[in-house]
Amino acid sequence: MQETLKRLEQDAMSALEKADSLERTREIEGEYLGRNGHITMILRGMKDLSDEEKRVVGPLCSATRTTLEEHFAKKIKIFEDKALAKELSKEFFDTTIPSSTRPLGHIHPLSQLQEEVERIFSQMGFTVTDGPEIESEHYNFESLNIPKDHPARDMQDTFFIQEKDDADHGRMVLRTQTSPVQIRAMEKYGAPLRLIVPGRVFRFEATDASHDSMFYQVEGLLIDKDISLAHLKGVLAEFLTRLFGKPVKVRFRPGYFPFVEPGLEVDFSCLLCEGKGCRVCKHSGWMEFMGAGMVHENVLKAGGIDSKEYQGWAFGFGLTRLVMMRYGIDDIRLLTNGDLRFNKQF
Ligand code: PHE
Repeated sequence: MQETLKRLEQDAMSALEKADSLERTREIEGEYLGRNGHITMILRGMKDLSDEEKRVVGPLCSATRTTLEEHFAKKIKIFEDKALAKELSKEFFDTTIPSSTRPLGHIHPLSQLQEEVERIFSQMGFTVTDGPEIESEHYNFESLNIPKDHPARDMQDTFFIQEKDDADHGRMVLRTQTSPVQIRAMEKYGAPLRLIVPGRVFRFEATDASHDSMFYQVEGLLIDKDISLAHLKGVLAEFLTRLFGKPVKVRFRPGYFPFVEPGLEVDFSCLLCEGKGCRVCKHSGWMEFMGAGMVHENVLKAGGIDSKEYQGWAFGFGLTRLVMMRYGIDDIRLLTNGDLRFNKQF
């Protein structure tokens, strides 16, 4: 038996040596190691041997099989490598050609500015929050001290999206301002409060270079004990100075908004001429920035806050307008036309 094995191994090796193709090598492999190959047959016949014989022949047989398997595999690999090299040499393959790149998008200037605004106010201890864009008349107007049929409703032309009047909440509208979130936050968190609300607002307006039916605002609200407009001035000057990276001054003028008393218009010193007066600020030295004021007693009441104990201020500015001022963008429609060439400039 041992001799038979030895001879089989030698036969296989010399046949393998003579094999001159992949096909021939595979054929010989089958003859010896295949399902009915010589070695396989011997292994299969082992069951008829005595235990004694098994102990001797078994390991020998496996060793022969392993040796042959290794040799066949080596030779097959040589043929395969040659075939691959031949295949590759047929076509020209330039490994130095740059790969095709996917066009990348770009963060919109509005989003960039919004992130900066959020970062600065967060640093000053403000929470960033939001509210629904589809809002009820109750939150958008009534609770903000703008009663039905009051002329102040006409200050903001409104998209009504529901005819039916609900007894508690009125009709549904696209919010015309971020101010309704003041009430929602008071109801949800109570006093004290310190938050900003960046978000989209909608007005039923004809579109031109400086008006769009959708734009972005940032609402601010601070409610605590012993709060005055001095705090507002300080916070705003600090915010603008950090945003623009140079000292910015803030000016208050009287203004009217039903949900604040007293109400203010806030300006900041012109970034270009630093207050001396130039074309950009129409020679006034100031840029109109936003509406603000001390939160009206009725608004605190609507939000469930005790106005004897707490007071505070609110502001609202146009993020869209701020982006236009910052980069000198002269047409609001550029911000929504989706042209990547525009976005990539910022
Ligand atoms: N909501 C006002 C507007 O859209 C801005 C504002 C907010 C004014 C808060 C005062 C206080 O015009």
